[in-house]
Amino acid sequence: MSEAQAGQGAPSTPDWSAARYARDARFVADLATPVLDLLGPVQGLEVLDLGCGDGPMTAALAARGARVTGVDASADMVAATQARGLTAQQADGQALPFEGAFDAVFSNAAIHWMPDQDAVIAGIARALRPGGLLVAEQGGQGNVAAIRTALIAALAEEGIDTTLDEVWAFPSAPAQRARLERHGFTVEHCDLIPRPTRVDAGMEAWLGTLAAPVLARVAPDRREAFITRVTRLVTPALRAEDGTWWADYVRLRYRAILR
Ligand code: BEZ
Repeated sequence: MSEAQAGQGAPSTPDWSAARYARDARFVADLATPVLDLLGPVQGLEVLDLGCGDGPMTAALAARGARVTGVDASADMVAATQARGLTAQQADGQALPFEGAFDAVFSNAAIHWMPDQDAVIAGIARALRPGGLLVAEQGGQGNVAAIRTALIAALAEEGIDTTLDEVWAFPSAPAQRARLERHGFTVEHCDLIPRPTRVDAGMEAWLGTLAAPVLARVAPDRREAFITRVTRLVTPALRAEDGTWWADYVRLRYRAILR
């Protein structure tokens, strides 16, 4: 994946563990092949994998013949990507340090961790050559709404007043399309895709891994009770009669060309 610490570009230490992510969140990469396919042929192209996480999509891009660079805000994730023999560097996705260096930018399940969406899209536009391609999937409007609402309620019970807007940005399709156009892109498509996703590891594991930056705000001696409380709150919405857990994902998927 590639998720990031609140206010950063992708999973960021100390709130992210590459090993834990690999164990509990592999489904994030497993579901990303259709997004990768949207890039088309990448043989010989310079490609940036924004929010590379522990590198599964970076590896997939390399296997398709791209000359790929992964970036992630988390040192742990960058090290895990490099350990696969791939090129990766630590960077804040809201302040990308590249100028006209890439033919394409790919990003899966990362951009929603970057609250300053304008800074992200501006940085991607800077990183691309004219005519360069952006293919991304992130959380969109209504993403993990039941989980987010439960987190907000449980945080309030801990005396923490937040909407979590400073952690996650889940734009609507019209808003993201307008943002892309403002930053010089011609948008081929930008669509919201509801995708309830089975969470085999269970809701407590999902929270422990994918909401790690939120949990970090809770006092360490309250975290276990907090996770139990959030799990209870989401049960009516997200636990099926057969006991399986579902996360209420809504993806925002787009393909755009830099003018
Ligand atoms: C997502 O991929 O949409 C997501 C993952 C973790 C927390 C919130 C959203």
